[in-house]
Amino acid sequence: MPVLDTDLVTKLFRKSLIVMSLSLAACGGSSGVDQGGDEPIREPMVESLKAQTDMPLGVAVPAAYYDYFSNDILQRPDLQDVVVQHFSQITAENIMKSSYLQPAQGVFEWQWADQLVQWALDNKLTVHGHALVWHSQMPTWMEQFDGDAGQWQAMLDDHVSNVASHFNGKVVSWDVVNEALSDCASANDSYCGDSAATYPYRNSVLYQNLGADFIAAAFRAAHQADSSVPLYYNDYNISANGLKMDALITMVEGLLADSVPIDGIGFQMHVDYNWPDITSIRSAFRRAAATGLLVKITELDLKMNPNGQNSRFTAAMAEQQLERYQQIVTAYLEEVPSEQQGGVSFWGVSDADSWIPHHTGHEDWPLLFDQDLKQKPAIEGVEQALITAQ
Ligand code: G3I
Repeated sequence: MPVLDTDLVTKLFRKSLIVMSLSLAACGGSSGVDQGGDEPIREPMVESLKAQTDMPLGVAVPAAYYDYFSNDILQRPDLQDVVVQHFSQITAENIMKSSYLQPAQGVFEWQWADQLVQWALDNKLTVHGHALVWHSQMPTWMEQFDGDAGQWQAMLDDHVSNVASHFNGKVVSWDVVNEALSDCASANDSYCGDSAATYPYRNSVLYQNLGADFIAAAFRAAHQADSSVPLYYNDYNISANGLKMDALITMVEGLLADSVPIDGIGFQMHVDYNWPDITSIRSAFRRAAATGLLVKITELDLKMNPNGQNSRFTAAMAEQQLERYQQIVTAYLEEVPSEQQGGVSFWGVSDADSWIPHHTGHEDWPLLFDQDLKQKPAIEGVEQALITAQ
């Protein structure tokens, strides 16, 4: 009596969808564009992603801050269940940023972050801290701080030191400096805008007041407050823009030469279904690993509708997303030696909570779970990459 091999059936079904999507593309449709078709999107049954790896597998979660962020995880048992089942780490999507933790100078509001961290610890999840120093989501008083370089530095050191001390023993790693590099390819690049003068650094209020010295200072202050956890520099587009990666490597080598206590490089990885190409992604992971530092994917999500060309998410697109997630996680696991793997974190659980539609201005489906928290085929791509690496 033949036994039905359900794994095989699933694989064949998945393969036929991929073949269909490729054929449609060959018939004139471009890959990623609404390819029609009424096949339902499969709902996988992955038992637990985190069970397939020893490295931290994280996810960003929304949490309350007064009446902001009404999608607070602590009010949503269904979201909590998914996080606990599949992930071993969380990042606060917003509430550990400076505007929430120190809304007025010298006034620290710990209660919101504290309750989130406590929930994580109660559920045996670790916490990746995000972010000590970032030019965005700073409180107005900090942005408009009136002082000379010495006063600016003291003010910033005070923030880093208070926050890192408060969470000492509770977070297992920190994004210490976020997005200090500019996006331009050279000082002459028209895309550079007002960063031409500050290239390769971003022309932020931090740079304007302190030059690039704020970066080393932030790591030193964080290390002094908590010397037991890895400290990361975190940025975006470094897997796409070779010149931004050059700048990052030069910066990191300079920091290491000056004995600055930096431990890791964070790749945000807000990428598209077809951009950047996998060769650039692999090369960037390899270059980061060659510094000897830890390498962590800190904010992975994958736009399926970057230009607004799709009106809905089809079964073929779901399979394409699976392949792409698998490709990226595999690239990370193959290019970064295991002892340097700081883990992989996704920037959100459900498509319904993703920051992407607010950013691009149109609908998207960038994450592993749909708007009803059902598993999307993408989760199998991640699971498969983790299993293959075991
Ligand atoms: O929830 C409030 C709502 O009550 C209010 O009415 C509305 C008015 O604007 O704002 C809502 O808050 C927004 C919040 O997202 C929740 O959607 C904030 O305005 C908005 O600024 C905030 O955006 C966050 C963004 O950082 C700010 O730059 C995103 O949630 C968050 O995902 C995003 O995360 C960043 C990382 O920290 C660093 N790397 C890039 C990443 C994506 O931009």
